[in-house]
Amino acid sequence: MCSDRLFIGIDSNAENLARYSQKAAQKPTKGGTPNALFVHANCERLPTELCGVAQELSILLPWGSLLKAVVLPDLAVLQGLRCVCAEQATLRIVFGYDQCCEPGITMALDLPPLTWEYLQAVLIPCYAQIGFAIQVRQMEHTELRDIPTTWAKRLSYGKDREFFEIIGHGLS
Ligand SMILES: C[S@@+](CC[C@H](N)C(=O)[O-])C[C@H]1O[C@@H](n2cnc3c(N)ncnc32)[C@H](O)[C@@H]1O
Repeated sequence: MCSDRLFIGIDSNAENLARYSQKAAQKPTKGGTPNALFVHANCERLPTELCGVAQELSILLPWGSLLKAVVLPDLAVLQGLRCVCAEQATLRIVFGYDQCCEPGITMALDLPPLTWEYLQAVLIPCYAQIGFAIQVRQMEHTELRDIPTTWAKRLSYGKDREFFEIIGHGLS
């Protein structure tokens, strides 16, 4: 982890955060790091103290209401995420779901099929509306192995299915 940056992990699930927070508080030889802090918050109501602090915003393999917000997309939630970012901040979102593998959640959240038409005609203009210029690309399933998170590892060895990466930056 780069020592000249502060990393802020945000999640609505306190248990998940507690695990990483405990690890970060350990000695560096045991995987600890002094430049990470953790915020228990919903993406729908991010603390105002975080306004404008992020040079980079990463949302890796969102699920539940966070997934819904980035894919549908929910402009109010995206606006909140944009607020966390500095003017020229970079954005990275890696996401994927499958109507066949996850029929329950895709129906419950009313998630659209991830067609190129949807990504180009709906997603890109919505992100531009809230101040992010983005590009979307399909990822190779095996690329998930390069993302150092629990779910990326888990999914990279699971069923071969579609994942997408949104890369963008803040518009001034
Ligand atoms: C599949 S896990 C991925 C976790 C981690 N990024 C990884 O790759 O291992 C999805 C995460 O999204 C979080 N999440 C879901 N809805 C959220 C919301 N509304 N606000 C903040 N976090 C949310 C969940 O608590 C969960 O930790």
